[in-house]
Order: sequence, then structure tokens, then C-alpha cells
Amino acid sequence: SQDVQADLKEILCTKEQIQERIEELAAQIDKDYEGRDLLIVGVLKGAVMVMADLARALHSHVTMDWMAVSSYGSGTQSSGVVRIIKDLETDLMGKHVLIVEDIIDSGLTLSWLKANLESRGPASVEIFTMFRKPEAAKVEIDVKYVGKDIPNEFVVGYGLDYAEKYRNLGFVGSLAPHVYA
Ligand code: PRP
Ligand code: MN
Ligand code: MG
Repeated sequence: SQDVQADLKEILCTKEQIQERIEELAAQIDKDYEGRDLLIVGVLKGAVMVMADLARALHSHVTMDWMAVSSYGSGTQSSGVVRIIKDLETDLMGKHVLIVEDIIDSGLTLSWLKANLESRGPASVEIFTMFRKPEAAKVEIDVKYVGKDIPNEFVVGYGLDYAEKYRNLGFVGSLAPHVYA
């Protein structure tokens, strides 16, 4: 059906809550990186919304670049084996890098990506994620900025997709079981 609301169980984070949290974290980032050149790296495609909002909430100069990665292996679960679909155009040597993600689920994508970027000679690599599912974690990752911890449910919106749909929602909600059953 074309009725998006009918596909949702509940709203986990409203548009207003997302924007308010991004403002808070952006103020923190402005402080933490004062006097340094910061490169924010968005992970396509999920991070498009949060990159656009975070970048506009920052008051300091930043540069922006993008990566696209794909986890592959058996089944639909992230395997931790990651392939670069689109690499950065920026040389990371000496740069302060902040990876920006929409969500950390198992943590496998980001733990691979962080190690990959760290091997390129940057001054620092830190992680910003808008959402995190602590109950789904398979690896420990050190995350500097977390928007909100959420339950281990199928969530969509604000960049997060189910079969490429729902990314355009301004809020995050859990998917009604009939959608993926
Ligand atoms: C999703 C999400 C994160 C990753 C998190 O991306 O945007 O990048 O999975 O999962 P993990 O912590 O278990 O590794 P996905 O691979 O679905 O690509 P997309 O961003 O294009 O939707
Ligand atoms: Mn993603
Ligand atoms: Mg996805």
C-alpha cells in the first residue's frame, strides 16, 4: 500500500527530537574540534539525512566527503566483510576525521570502516551515530557521539531503509510486523 503510517508500529524518535539532539551534539563537536580542521565522512546511503542536518548545525568550517560500502556474506545480516563501493576523494593524511552514520546495529560495518580509515594516516578518527542498538552489538566500538540508543527492533526512517523504502521519513519508527512477515 502507499500508506506509510499503516506500515509503522510506533514512532521511536520524532523529527523534533532528532533535530534537538543534533543541535546539542553539534555544539559539542564545535567545542571538541575548535581550532582543528574537521572532515566529516558520511556513509551512503543511510547517513544522507543526518549528514545534511549535522553539517548545517555546525558553526565551524568543515569539509564533507562520502563513502559507500557494502557488507556481504551469507544472508541479510551484516557479515563484517566489507567492500568499498565508492571511496573517499579526500587524502586523510593528518586530518581529523568524524565518520557519520545513521545507525550502529551489529557494529561490524563501522569497526571495519574505522580501522580502514585509521590506516590512511589521519590525525584522528572518531564516530558519530544518530542511533544505536546496544542489544544488537556483536563487536565493541568506541563511539564518541551517539544521538539515541534504541531497542533492537526493525526501524526505518531518517535515512534508514527496509528494502530501500522509508528513508525519506523525517522521524524514526519501528516497522509493523505485517510489512516484513
Ligand atoms: C545500514 C546502516 C549502517 C549499517 C549498520 O547500512 O546504515 O551503515 O547498516 O549495520 P551494522 O552495525 O550491523 O554493520 P546498509 O548496509 O543497510 O546500507 P544503506 O546505508 O545503504 O542502507
Ligand atoms: Mn548504511
Ligand atoms: Mg540499509
